Amino acid sequence: MPAADSSPQAPQHVAIIMDGNGRWATARGRPRLFGHQAGARRVSEIVEACPDLGVRYLTIFAFSTENWKRTQAEVSGLMTLFRRYIIKEAQRLLNKRVRVRFIGDRDRLDPKLVKLMDELETLTAGNDHVNLTIALNYGGRDEVTRATRRLAHEVAAGRIDPDDVGAETLSRFLDTHTLPDPDLVIRTSGEARISNFLLWQSAYAEYEFVDTLWPDFTAEKFAKVLSGYGKRERRYGAVLG
Ligand code: FPP
Repeated sequence: MPAADSSPQAPQHVAIIMDGNGRWATARGRPRLFGHQAGARRVSEIVEACPDLGVRYLTIFAFSTENWKRTQAEVSGLMTLFRRYIIKEAQRLLNKRVRVRFIGDRDRLDPKLVKLMDELETLTAGNDHVNLTIALNYGGRDEVTRATRRLAHEVAAGRIDPDDVGAETLSRFLDTHTLPDPDLVIRTSGEARISNFLLWQSAYAEYEFVDTLWPDFTAEKFAKVLSGYGKRERRYGAVLG
């Protein structure tokens, strides 16, 4: 793997839609949760690969606002997995100097899980080696809606002039207000959809859709996708000379 920051083209912020756990498990004749468990192990591997690849921000889509429509068994299995991941990985993340943040609406989550999320955020708040953001009960439209509601309250209270509201104002109310926009969004499993992920923030992101199912997405495969990104020319709507 390339040394830290060796490539000036490394994306600063990579966001990943981790898709394909269910198909991975089904192909092995196992329950879907088996795929999610394998997916969780892959999360740790990819997070730990980030410093060597020059990636400072990694945002992963763990549970969407639409995922509540899955069976009760799968939803509760995933929630247990998130709790166990936090408990098991907290010390390791701290030692690896990973700062963890969560985005998404916490109101519908089990208070015990929310407590663990809050504690992990506090525990790792002083870290700056890698910034891991876990999107949990997250939806892009839901996030923009919640941000707009909060902004509307500020306007109604007279603290913000409606004529001063611009894109930057709304950005300040998003869950991601402390993060840079993603440079690269990766989706595994061969599906080419964005599924309500970081709709506002990925306006100028590059997209990479890879066929690999998430539990098979190794650090080597991650590095390969990043090296492809380094060869791209980003324009941000302008014409390059
Ligand atoms: C999508 O694959 C994946 C999810 C909805 C869950 C993602 C969760 C993990 C990777 C597990 C652990 C995460 C953390 C942060 C510990 P799918 O189940 O929709 O796959 P399919 O399309 O093949 O059915």
